[in-house]
Amino acid sequence: TPIYLKDYAAPSYLVETLDLDFDLGEETSKCRAVSKIVPNYEGSPPTLELDGDASMVLAGISIDGKEISADKYELKSSGELRILDLPAGSFTLEIVTDLEPQNNTALEGLYKSSGNFCTQCEANGFRRITFFQDRPDVMAKYTTRITADKAKYPVLLSNGNLMDSGDLSDGKHFALWEDPWVKPCYLFALVAGDLALIEDSFTAADGRDIALKIWVEEHNAHKADFAMESLKASMKWDEDVYGLVYDLDLFNIVAVDDFNMGAMENKSLNVFNSRAVLASPDTATDAEYNFIERVVAHEYFHNYTGNRVTCRDWFQLSLKEGLTVFRDQQFSADMNSEGVKRIADVAGLRAGQFPQDSGPMAHPIRPDSYIKMDNFYTVTVYSKGAEVVRMYQTLLGKEGFRKGMDLYFERHDGQAVTCDDFLNAMADANDTDLEQFKLWYSQAGTPELTVATEYNAEAHTFTIKCKQSVPPTPGQPDKLPMLLPITVGLLGADGADMPATLKGMEQPGGTSTVLRMTEAEQEFVFVDVPERPVASLLRGFSAPVKLATDLSQEDLIFLLANDSDDFNRWDAAQTLLRDMQLRLLAARQAEEELVFDSNILEALGNVVADASKEDADLAFIACVLTFPGSAVLSELVPEVDPMAIYDVCKFVQTHFAASFKDELTAIMHANTEAEYGTEKASRAKRSLKNLCLSYLSSLEEPATAEEALARCQAADNMTDQVAALSALCSWDTPLAEVGLNEFYEQWSKDSLVLIKWFSLQAGRPTPGNLEKVKALLDHPDFKITNPNTCSALIGGFASSTPNFHAADGSGYDFLAEMVLKLDAINPQVAARLVSGLSRWRKYEPVRRELMKAQLERVAASEGLSPNVLEIASKSLA
Ligand code: ARG
Ligand code: ZN
Repeated sequence: TPIYLKDYAAPSYLVETLDLDFDLGEETSKCRAVSKIVPNYEGSPPTLELDGDASMVLAGISIDGKEISADKYELKSSGELRILDLPAGSFTLEIVTDLEPQNNTALEGLYKSSGNFCTQCEANGFRRITFFQDRPDVMAKYTTRITADKAKYPVLLSNGNLMDSGDLSDGKHFALWEDPWVKPCYLFALVAGDLALIEDSFTAADGRDIALKIWVEEHNAHKADFAMESLKASMKWDEDVYGLVYDLDLFNIVAVDDFNMGAMENKSLNVFNSRAVLASPDTATDAEYNFIERVVAHEYFHNYTGNRVTCRDWFQLSLKEGLTVFRDQQFSADMNSEGVKRIADVAGLRAGQFPQDSGPMAHPIRPDSYIKMDNFYTVTVYSKGAEVVRMYQTLLGKEGFRKGMDLYFERHDGQAVTCDDFLNAMADANDTDLEQFKLWYSQAGTPELTVATEYNAEAHTFTIKCKQSVPPTPGQPDKLPMLLPITVGLLGADGADMPATLKGMEQPGGTSTVLRMTEAEQEFVFVDVPERPVASLLRGFSAPVKLATDLSQEDLIFLLANDSDDFNRWDAAQTLLRDMQLRLLAARQAEEELVFDSNILEALGNVVADASKEDADLAFIACVLTFPGSAVLSELVPEVDPMAIYDVCKFVQTHFAASFKDELTAIMHANTEAEYGTEKASRAKRSLKNLCLSYLSSLEEPATAEEALARCQAADNMTDQVAALSALCSWDTPLAEVGLNEFYEQWSKDSLVLIKWFSLQAGRPTPGNLEKVKALLDHPDFKITNPNTCSALIGGFASSTPNFHAADGSGYDFLAEMVLKLDAINPQVAARLVSGLSRWRKYEPVRRELMKAQLERVAASEGLSPNVLEIASKSLA
């Protein structure tokens, strides 16, 4: 049964304090929860409805110290506990529950990972620990007492400050934690285990010394330094950029191997998937280092955007996630390179979020309803949500945005609020009307923006004509025009930006102008334009839209060479390539010969030549030379023939590689450093060098296989080693097996590295790879209870076009089988995997029917989790 935003009602009871007492054991763990409950209703006391879960046993319930009789409460099969006949006024409720964390494979609530106890409560995991109003607008002060065997679990952690600890009889010990800040129950955390400590400290802007502690399994103790550096950098950045100073004297991060997501921002006790914390140069790639930096910052930033100001209800998830993703994007841009970061984020949005926005699971960043909230931790809520936050900054300017943030904290610190509250703070702080902007929260679908330009040589005016429309999405047939910030620059014939003045503006404008589009069709006129300019439109991707323009191929090549906006230089190349790929797709359908456009090839040749220049931006060049892939192209065609798209991408790649084979080889050698370095320049060299290697591999020459194997063996860092192995795996060369076996021998003790080993094999395009993937399910290092290995092997397989989309349907059949198997173990992981079938309608008739049949098979299965059922049934609807 769906839950609707429109049904929101404030809780009838609030909780002032919650005192938790855990006795952790091998068979049963006990939780005693004492809460001070205060009325939030008028009239006589209503029934108190507490969320719960069938996985726990109610072992005691009393009110104001007295056990209550069985006729005073109802325990529903759904897990809900209803308490009747309550006293007027406040009272104390005590509930005892018996839990079996060792059998909890869903990884929600209290569970065990590598022998240690840990928790995950967002969104609705707390109801698997005790009966409680499991909703974020119920905020309380917590204490947590933990008792456990001292030898097995020497480290006992919870939120806040350690108040007391000591030894007990029977080899047990205890710790008592108190969190001075009110919080919703989704931010509760507990960890008990045998963990090594990496310690550091940070001096806050107010002079306080904050203890920073990262807890990992002993054998990973050497892999936490980078996460610690990232944490300190995040703390400093949030002080400098937003004036936000950490509000406790202790901050903990714990790494666990079995975790459903990246990490979790529990107050002062962040719990992380190991892969988002642990790194050393020989085991983690540059991309993984970036990921760790970003996730550590993201979770830290949640301390204000999420914890101090939290969500009223889960429909508001983007309030904290969109905002916090935007903040971590800004942080990563400041730590690394702004242009490259923006390019990566937009590439990800187009490949991941645009397809969701045009498919059966399309939803606004603030959804109207859900069945399982876990299914709405989506790229739409997170990444499109971050784009929406970015648009405030584009519309209001950096200073205006900061004023809005300050007012938001001033008004709402300690509260559980809505996306409207955020919008109102932004509007009020800047004394502006953002009413129309609210549509970004309620309308799903990616807006389509079409732009035509016109130069009037006599009047010296340049007119930009914009049209927008938002496509229909499930449940939303008609849409209204959105408020779109369109950042525009005008380039003169010399390639430089011209100062541009909008008609009606008193002051002469600068070189970038933010057009504020509010209508379905709207014209903007620039005056005093001395010559026909080339328009650089939607600079920095100023709005998350699909853009179509009347720019000619010549204009785009000009922009690629000259635009002062890095993002638009990259995007000019993307547009040129996408347009060509679409023409090639049509040619292939018409059984014509495929020809690489010579003008585009020449323009790309100039980019290749740039790589040898003195001050070349190698990381940016690597972005330009990374061509649009099948996810992006599939969005642009009415019907997807996956192998046709695959062939066209392959043709473009190999033709480019063959045309510049010598140059790419030279760049690869020129950027191969004698020794690994961590600084930006070395990372840039690796990214370009390894891209060259992948192009050369596309030619499938034995000499390249030898070279890749040699590089794999000689690598002094994981970035290079995995790039070389991935090159080897990209075609059917016998050396791939050699490389894979050697890699396994080298890394068989490191479960995080083995995730890469599984995923590289799973994604191979070689014929018959499904059988190999199936065999890997029986590999001793594959653990079906571990979400990382599952997404590597099963998710990795679903990313390989030739095998997943095999015309006999074997790939879809395998996915459905795994979804059903996993659903009984971990519904969140199963639901993520079944999404791989949800776009069935978009495919050509043969695949369409095959995918649909597998979805129907899943949907019809007995005992399906609501998680998988929601995705499968919405996909079929
Ligand atoms: N709040 C976490 C983060 O974005 C994610 C938690 C997701 N939990 C879930 N059950 N889906 O940092
Ligand atoms: Zn988050």
